[in-house]
Amino acid sequence: MSDAEPANGFVSLVSAGPGDPELLTLKAVSRLAQADVILFDDLASGPVLDHANPDAELIAVGKRAGRPSARQEHVNMQLVSQARAGRRVVRLKSGDSGIFGRLEEELIALTEAGIPFEIIPGVTSASAAAAAAGIPLTRRLTARRVQFVTGADVTGHLPEDINWAALADPHVTTVVFMGQRSFPKLAEGLRAHGLPGDTPALFAEAVGHPHQRLLRTTIDELARMMRDITVVQPGLILYGPLVLKGYGNT
Ligand SMILES: C[S@@+](CC[C@H](N)C(=O)[O-])C[C@H]1O[C@@H](n2cnc3c(N)ncnc32)[C@H](O)[C@@H]1O
Repeated sequence: MSDAEPANGFVSLVSAGPGDPELLTLKAVSRLAQADVILFDDLASGPVLDHANPDAELIAVGKRAGRPSARQEHVNMQLVSQARAGRRVVRLKSGDSGIFGRLEEELIALTEAGIPFEIIPGVTSASAAAAAAGIPLTRRLTARRVQFVTGADVTGHLPEDINWAALADPHVTTVVFMGQRSFPKLAEGLRAHGLPGDTPALFAEAVGHPHQRLLRTTIDELARMMRDITVVQPGLILYGPLVLKGYGNT
């Protein structure tokens, strides 16, 4: 088929949730069951793929596939070529695909190629972490805002242009994605901008996976711990007034 011919396949950009297959949406399950081909990330694999059509081709497009930019271009090309071959394509991404999921690059590639698509939202690891820890993300009066931030820019380091006033706001729940390595530096900046070192912090690792681990501490203590961390599992850091304690048996 030439590039000029219209596409007749379809791409479903499916959010896989944090890893627990029970947190898949019904729409996600239905698209996985109908897929001809599934392109999945490292973090969107495991038991969620048990819902895949047994005849679907499963293609891992995770980190080990190459350098970040080359990998993204390669994924874009694969999405377009699979759809142009008339297949029902599922692009499976962890959590909610619209949150630090590089969704936009793929939307642009599909739009430019004239491929029809849909976006299926899902449970972000941020909400799953809060639920696992037995806390809400917001509270009237004392946590009226929740912010999702990344602890790593394209180089893997703490972004340079941080809005410190926002991040050091004591009346906010902050969720830091991809932030384990840079957290000592982030915590230093937070202290310098007035956030007390005993501000409650939660480290939520592998949420929704069998090795899930939750650690409730303070930003100072967590920064000390993270100085020597070897990251082997995905982890989120939450800090703010709500992280202090979990309710029920959490
Ligand atoms: C590329 S981002 C994708 C986020 C995803 N779209 C979401 O909504 O959860 C990957 C980062 O999300 C966080 N993450 C994803 N899944 C996780 C999980 N099951 N447990 C803890 N953190 C997770 C980690 O910070 C990880 O480095």
